[in-house]
Amino acid sequence: MRTHYCGQLRAEHIGETVTLCGWVDRRRDHGGVIFIDLRDRAGIVQIVSDPIRTPQSYKDAEGLRNEYVVKISGRVSQRPEESRNPKLGTGDVEIYADQIEVLNAVRKQLPFQISSSETESVREELRLKYRYLDLRRERMSRNLQLRHQVIKTLRRYLEDEQGFMEVETPVLTRSTPEGARDYLVPSRANPGEWFALPQSPQLFKQILMVAGCDRYYQVAHCFRDEDLRADRQPEFTQLDMEMSFMSQDELLDLNERMICHLLKVVKGIDLPRPFPRLTYAEAMNRYGSDKPDTRYELELVDVSDVVQGSGFKVFADAVTKGGIVKILPIPGGNDAISNVRIKPGGDLFKEAELCGARGLAYIRVRNGEIDTIGAIKDNLTDEQKQEILTRCNATDGHLLLFGAGDTAMVNKTLDRLRQVVAREQGLIASDKINLLWVTHFPMFEWNADEKRLEALHHPFTAPYPEELHDLKTAHAQAYDLVFNGFEVGGGSLRIYQPDVQRQVFETIGLSPEEAYAKFGFLLDAFEFGAPPHGGIAYGIDRLVMLLAGEESIRDVIGFPKTQQARCLMTSAPSGVDDKQLKELHVASTYKPKKEG
Ligand code: AMO
Repeated sequence: MRTHYCGQLRAEHIGETVTLCGWVDRRRDHGGVIFIDLRDRAGIVQIVSDPIRTPQSYKDAEGLRNEYVVKISGRVSQRPEESRNPKLGTGDVEIYADQIEVLNAVRKQLPFQISSSETESVREELRLKYRYLDLRRERMSRNLQLRHQVIKTLRRYLEDEQGFMEVETPVLTRSTPEGARDYLVPSRANPGEWFALPQSPQLFKQILMVAGCDRYYQVAHCFRDEDLRADRQPEFTQLDMEMSFMSQDELLDLNERMICHLLKVVKGIDLPRPFPRLTYAEAMNRYGSDKPDTRYELELVDVSDVVQGSGFKVFADAVTKGGIVKILPIPGGNDAISNVRIKPGGDLFKEAELCGARGLAYIRVRNGEIDTIGAIKDNLTDEQKQEILTRCNATDGHLLLFGAGDTAMVNKTLDRLRQVVAREQGLIASDKINLLWVTHFPMFEWNADEKRLEALHHPFTAPYPEELHDLKTAHAQAYDLVFNGFEVGGGSLRIYQPDVQRQVFETIGLSPEEAYAKFGFLLDAFEFGAPPHGGIAYGIDRLVMLLAGEESIRDVIGFPKTQQARCLMTSAPSGVDDKQLKELHVASTYKPKKEG
């Protein structure tokens, strides 16, 4: 039907007769000559229809409207010098249309304009409802192609360069404990029993190592019923990997090579190796986050020891109660950030409040000393004040924002403020890529609701062997890959001895019976010669989002769900027939609220 893609045509095609198929991006009538921008997956090319040179096509061109599907044949010509468009790949050429055939028309009013020459911003709900139109748009088409290229590059690298084998693992399975709620599927054949959709292929990939698979990978769909955000979807895609007989350093090295290869292929960027590594403790201390954005500095400063027992009660109490006092020093913050913004009701104050902070103490530095009237100035000794300024490297113009209280809350608050300030002060170079490993996570964290320890990564993660004697405080041989402040991947070396696995289950409050009921197959498998193994999973959606420069993973997924976990195009989820429910032995307990 066609000889070329629209977006492929270049000066080298001048003189050739071509046939193209695509959509009318827009049609312009220029005093007798009609220009059509014809669009397909590869891009846009300009078609010209002129009553004198191409009389046959002229009438047909007059009838064209945006988004008509057409087939056009004609000769590729050089554009006159003054109308060349260097921004367009095809900008040196145009096609004089001999024939225009309408393959299909648009019969309804378009809900929004598709052409990238239109600058209107379209509501996301509308884009998701008419996703097929949205995906025609240049930006979205480019994102889907980038996603394809990323997955293709990773597959090729793992299979052809590193000897990985893709194995598909079941989608109807038992629940895996990654910490989110499961999506459940009732079993018709087994009344009263349920499958869970996998939150990840974690246990299957470990079993594959016991099976001698040695190097496994999968582009795997995972399902988690959790609160959604810009970087979270209920259904998302992992690049899931598992390897036997590799040390942590070997494993991270292989992964760094893969990521460097990916960035080289899709972005043409050479990333330096090895990637920097930060321990969890260091990351929390310096940035208040286990996924710090290190493209900019703005490091936090702990002054708990300085203000401990000081005259300023808020600070002294925070430390006495086991919390901390930390500072976010902002060079130039004096002029940039007004008091109104950091006092109650101000936008930065509100950001802090959302993170649980009850106040936002601050000091301003002028002429080498604290120039802020208030409790801090009045209640700290000169030595304490001087020590704070020294630790913060505070010079004239610095604004110091304080967090005081529970450690997690202080870190959360200052991490949040650090990001807001960096963005508004333009400290983030948008083309910069920073990758780093965060390692040495604690094995467990306290779940205050359930009053028990729970695994920070998952309960199959191996502790450092030298810390086995006190598992509760041990660190995990786990690692996250952080890309410009986003966690794009996470993994660990695994437990492969049944007794260590039992100990970990016990620590998180699973009795031997419960553990066996849930994970007996894994414990059994470990009795039959399990190799040392470890792995990682990357969030493909997040990776592509960052490479595409997008701010939401919804923009790099073909058919994403909304924040309310709905698909606006198909209207899923939806009700089902009573008959279907009956067959599944399921009845709904949901009672819709009465209107009014
Ligand atoms: P983890 O739970 O850290 O590890 O997930 C791995 C990566 O998957 C991405 N991710 C998500 N992306 C979009 N939407 C979500 N709801 C979502 N949840 C997670 C993140 C994350 O880094 N089985 C382990 C891996 C292992 O130990 O090998 C696991 O799933 O980018």
